[in-house]
Amino acid sequence: MDSNGSAHGNQDTIKSDEEQYLEQDFTSSELGTKEYWDDVYQRDLRTYKDIGDVGEIWFGEESMHRVIKCLRKENVPADAAVLDIGTGNGSLLVELAKSGFTNLTGIDYSAAAVELAKNVLEQDDLSNIKVEEVDFLSCAGTLTGFDVCIDKGTFDAISLNPDSAADGKAHYLKALQGALTQGGLFLITSCNWTKEQLLHFFRQGFAFHRELPTPSFMFGGKTGHSVTALAFKRVQ
Ligand SMILES: C[S@@+](CC[C@H](N)C(=O)[O-])C[C@H]1O[C@@H](n2cnc3c(N)ncnc32)[C@H](O)[C@@H]1O
Repeated sequence: MDSNGSAHGNQDTIKSDEEQYLEQDFTSSELGTKEYWDDVYQRDLRTYKDIGDVGEIWFGEESMHRVIKCLRKENVPADAAVLDIGTGNGSLLVELAKSGFTNLTGIDYSAAAVELAKNVLEQDDLSNIKVEEVDFLSCAGTLTGFDVCIDKGTFDAISLNPDSAADGKAHYLKALQGALTQGGLFLITSCNWTKEQLLHFFRQGFAFHRELPTPSFMFGGKTGHSVTALAFKRVQ
């Protein structure tokens, strides 16, 4: 027995292979830094002003349709308060507005992304949609009361932060719990995390609600998905 009274020393901290898989972190990457996204959106903003191209829509157009289809299936009212976490160029906000949703907010920590999104929305006469420069990881208590929170690629980016992906993920969970109302819907689209890993990560405070169908591929006789899209409900 050690000084902590444990019969096997650090037994409590030894994780099973399954736990290690579920909690593994990715090699950090520049995609996890604010500098990277500032560069991307400063360039995209220039391009948009030059030729009107909005730039990349992560996971493609179908990822937006998938989210909207799910909101319809869930009978989410048109005036539900919807937050797009890490909105980028704001394309999802445009599609949501075109689909009849009227109470939309987008946030992004990149000032250039916010400016680009505002330009894109203005072009579609949607300047009434709120887009704010907010770091989701340090917004505790300031973003509240959303019936729906949507994340398309932002949790993925946060998971790649070279400084501290683990801290980032913990702050993300706290901010999400603060932003979403009790029983509210959280839709996440990820290419970094599998369904099992997302279920494990969001197990506290959220209940798995449904999986959104994404294209599958066959490899070595097994079927897999390169993109995972899940819906959770906030339960505490
Ligand atoms: C992969 S892009 C996805 C953009 C958009 N959601 C889409 O689907 O096209 C990730 C986005 O998350 C934003 N982001 C990353 N970390 C953030 C944070 N801590 N707070 C707010 N936005 C963040 C980036 O600026 C970028 O716009």
